[in-house]
Amino acid sequence: MNEAMPRRRLIAGNWKMHGLVASTTTFDAIVAGAPGGVDLCVCPPLTLLANFAARAGGVLVGAQDVVVGRFGAHTGDVSAAMLADAGARAVIVGHSERRAAHGETDAMVRAKAEAAHGEGLLAILCVGESEAEREGGHALATIARQLEGSLPGRRSAPLAVAYEPVWAIGSGRTPTARQIAEVHALVRKIVGPDTRILYGGSVKAVNAAALLAIDNVDGALVGGASLDAAEFLAIASA
Ligand code: PGA
Repeated sequence: MNEAMPRRRLIAGNWKMHGLVASTTTFDAIVAGAPGGVDLCVCPPLTLLANFAARAGGVLVGAQDVVVGRFGAHTGDVSAAMLADAGARAVIVGHSERRAAHGETDAMVRAKAEAAHGEGLLAILCVGESEAEREGGHALATIARQLEGSLPGRRSAPLAVAYEPVWAIGSGRTPTARQIAEVHALVRKIVGPDTRILYGGSVKAVNAAALLAIDNVDGALVGGASLDAAEFLAIASA
């Protein structure tokens, strides 16, 4: 670590479109087993958010997306004000699955992060290169461009950046430690010493300790492995 104040680690679980009311038992196990000294966050689908928030103890509950605006005639949309009201304390913005499936641009992601900040929510802002960008030698340029376009203006607001190479998500593949360190060093240069930088993409209990030991990796954004309480807690303890 290259700065004075150590950053508290953040391990965030992105449940994506998984989880039913019965999954409350998984969340309860996560709350019961949460290790000290690390921030844990679970981002369930919206249908479970208020329920989880009411039983979260010290675990942060977050959403997976937010729509800009407060209230209005926007059928199907949920605003940051509504998320905060339901008990959310964080929200993922700019996940590559939303960028790909919903056409989210960097400018839209920035607006979402700013909407989150307007309600005091921690914005977990995702960036990451595609496989073609990585193979073409454009990974760093891609990350720089995405951050340039999507970082919120109010930088004092709570923010974490998650580096998630698109090709590593759900694939069981991860970049080398050197590749991760290189990207995180670039992100660090852009966001400064106080913002936590998470790595995401096929983080599991077996590789968590090695990934979390890499320079400037302040935590993890975990997809599939966060659906299993024991696996997620093992990552949090790594
Ligand atoms: P994964 O997903 O851990 O299942 O690869 C990570 C993510 O998409 O946030």
